[in-house]
Amino acid sequence: MNKATLAVHAGTRRELNFGGLNTPIFTSSAIEYLDDSEVRYPRYFNTHNSLVVAEKIAALEHAEAAIVTSSGMAAISTVILGLLQPGDHVIFLEGLYGGTHAMVSTELERLGMTCSFVGADPEDFRKALRPETRMLYIESPTNPLLTVLDLRAIAGIAAEHGAWSVIDGTFATPVLQNPVDHGFDLVVHSGTKYLGGHSDLCCGAITGSGELIERLRGHALMHGGSLNAQDCALLERSLKTLDLRVRRQSANARTLAEALDAHGRIERVYYPGLASHPGHEIAAGQMDDFGAMLSFDLAADVDPVRFLRALRLIACAVSLGGVETTVCQPVATSHQKMPAAERERLGIRDALIRLSTGIEDPQDLIDDLEQALAAAA
Ligand SMILES: Cc1ncc(COP(=O)(O)O)c(C=O)c1O
Repeated sequence: MNKATLAVHAGTRRELNFGGLNTPIFTSSAIEYLDDSEVRYPRYFNTHNSLVVAEKIAALEHAEAAIVTSSGMAAISTVILGLLQPGDHVIFLEGLYGGTHAMVSTELERLGMTCSFVGADPEDFRKALRPETRMLYIESPTNPLLTVLDLRAIAGIAAEHGAWSVIDGTFATPVLQNPVDHGFDLVVHSGTKYLGGHSDLCCGAITGSGELIERLRGHALMHGGSLNAQDCALLERSLKTLDLRVRRQSANARTLAEALDAHGRIERVYYPGLASHPGHEIAAGQMDDFGAMLSFDLAADVDPVRFLRALRLIACAVSLGGVETTVCQPVATSHQKMPAAERERLGIRDALIRLSTGIEDPQDLIDDLEQALAAAA
């Protein structure tokens, strides 16, 4: 079935007593076990609402199995800390989401593992391989410069070396990109973003083969990052409109990217859907559309904070992926803790604004951006 159908129907269980179309919410944390094939408990990731929503995400991600977690970071730390042993080496893409970067740069060394951070070129990953390399970990498109990595090439390098390939698929969503189809072992998500989609949920997901997910479930239940039944149900409801939302958001993003690209007070737009973007061809080959995230450098005569304060419709907020359009200045938010010299090297300047496109009418968004650019110049 196609994504729009899977989003509505996969996993969802009807309520049989009264004929309700929605999966009932089972809030019990104490569950009878004598006649069950397994012992069920909310933290074991095996209660009804958790299984149902995991099935929907796995179907959308073209993966065999999934578990849902209490945050994106719970998913990421479960994968990294669950699979790796002291002495192992991991290759990370440089410029990962700040929380992931902070976690791996503090926790791995403490636990006896080593890591390297490399650029987006697959050859950089190949060059960084060591005999003890056990995992390659990337994001694509990246935050905040929307760099696109060649998924098939990276997964191939990992497989040749016998290492796991892991991708944070938050920005692309399972609607637009299925890394498993390109050879990736695991896809993690911050469900707080597009999967939840309404800026009212904190959750995450891990998807992959049945064997790997079962192995990770064994670690996850010890780490304790399960998602409660109500939030599982809220996530399930949100996912029913994922395909609709993301396709509309991506169409809006393209309209905004083109309008900003033509605007005299914008120096540069970073959006994989623009033919001028260096990753455009690769993105076109591995994504179904170019996503709803874009960034832009304001021209030198526009004050970034005045611009953000002048916006009337678009909110200046941390997080992304909601139905409402939001913006943030990465130097003050996601990349605040990164040393200034490193930010400069990666191209993350004060003038850079990241925009998460919502589902509003695109002309209203363009009008708001234009009036704020005029006010801040
Ligand atoms: C790409 C990406 N991955 C992971 C995370 C972490 O997710 P959470 O905040 O749900 O733990 C974020 C949060 O902003 C993110 O943007």
